[in-house]
Amino acid sequence: MSVLISYAGEHGSTQEVAERIAARLALRDHPIEVLPAGPSPSEQGWTAVVIGSAVHNGAWLPAAAECARRHHDGRPDMPIWMFSVGMLDALRGPLRRLAERGEQQPIARLVESIGPRGYRRFSGVILPEHLGRLGRLLFRAGGGHFGDYRDWRAIDAWADDIADTLIPGHPRHRSPGDASG
Ligand SMILES: Cc1cc2nc3c(=O)[nH]c(=O)nc-3n(C[C@H](O)[C@H](O)[C@H](O)COP(=O)(O)O)c2cc1C
Repeated sequence: MSVLISYAGEHGSTQEVAERIAARLALRDHPIEVLPAGPSPSEQGWTAVVIGSAVHNGAWLPAAAECARRHHDGRPDMPIWMFSVGMLDALRGPLRRLAERGEQQPIARLVESIGPRGYRRFSGVILPEHLGRLGRLLFRAGGGHFGDYRDWRAIDAWADDIADTLIPGHPRHRSPGDASG
């Protein structure tokens, strides 16, 4: 049985993070499938699911949120990991401090309702062409700097933690049904 890495994004950076996580898990011989978030033919057949979404306007994209709920509701004991790809590291000043204080409410509620084994916020890519004129103005006025903020070492380290947890017999292994944490 495979680990499903599911993602939703608009400009490709979340997909690349998902593919990087998949490559790290594959290094430890975990069979992997990477799929865009959406209904999949073998919904019940996964060992574990890792679901990621780009953050838009403080929330996960609907396809990823629905995917997380569907997997959780379909098999509440299945290990799920969740990650967000946003623009925290592109921000400076008061906006950054505000963003650092905590997760935006819709995401915090979603994560709480799913109760994943782990949840991480990563920074992605934000470029001028991703935003409309007003969005660009607000972003710059708020102290934002466009760029690629993905921290591949942090992403690899998180993927390695997941890989450990999935190896039966590993001290960090948890089977489906173990309490989350
Ligand atoms: C329309 C729009 C709204 C966004 N809103 C947020 C937001 O509320 N919070 C955040 O942290 N990042 C936000 N971002 C930044 C994206 O989440 C970030 O650029 C991410 O890397 C996009 O992933 P993708 O390349 O897979 O689409 C927004 C980006 C766009 C284009």
